[in-house]
Amino acid sequence: MKRVFRKRAAVVSAVALIGCLAGPVGLDASEAKRTGVVKERHELMERFEELTERLFAMRHGELTYDAEIVRKAAAEIKAGAGSHLVKLFPEGSGGAPSDALPTVWQNKDFFAHLADRLGDIAAVLEKDAGTKPEGATSLPKKWEDVPIMGAAGGPGGMMGQGRGPMMGQGMMGRGMMGTGPGMMAGGTVESDLWHLAHVCNTCHADFRKKE
Ligand code: HEC
Repeated sequence: MKRVFRKRAAVVSAVALIGCLAGPVGLDASEAKRTGVVKERHELMERFEELTERLFAMRHGELTYDAEIVRKAAAEIKAGAGSHLVKLFPEGSGGAPSDALPTVWQNKDFFAHLADRLGDIAAVLEKDAGTKPEGATSLPKKWEDVPIMGAAGGPGGMMGQGRGPMMGQGMMGRGMMGTGPGMMAGGTVESDLWHLAHVCNTCHADFRKKE
């Protein structure tokens, strides 16, 4: 037992060492230049991505659904959203190497609104996590493929109809939240994941440079 453990530890540290040495090589130039608050918000966003990918993989059956992991992921997103997120975008922190658009500071209220919506949705998901989604899913495989507000297609598009994309209402409105299972296959968790990715993508569409 002991020997196996030691061997594994040696492999792990070798991997860690290679990881360190390879560090900057794998990063693009702008990533390497990011420091301070810009670096911090990138780390937050990358963590959001990791968690969202995990949640999507669970809904698609690529990972086993685990209510506790869903709850923890939701709680972590909730903690990183709202004022925590907004604080990582202080005035004057735009421009290269950041991908944040000047609209973050020109349209502060909507930016803060979306940051809050992210927190609200994560809180709903945290509560719904215990109800394992069943049946086929219409959720795209990738969170980036969930259409933004006002876009057609998918249950999300349906919910946003008839409202201006800048209103911050429509599918994001509280009225549409928690409409309950039966509204679409997969129940509440399914619709929560739609809402979650909607907010990510809506914010990126308005406030982040296109790649
Ligand atoms: C309130 C607006 C807002 C919300 C909500 C938001 N983001 Fe972002 N995100 C941004 C902005 C702005 C940037 C660009 C930041 C920069 O370059 O300084 C960004 C960047 C990113 C990046 C790129 C990071 C990198 O290293 O290049 C990823 C990945 C990302 N977000 C994922 C997510 C996911 C997943 C969610 C939802 C769970 C989410 N974001 C929610 C505004 C938001």
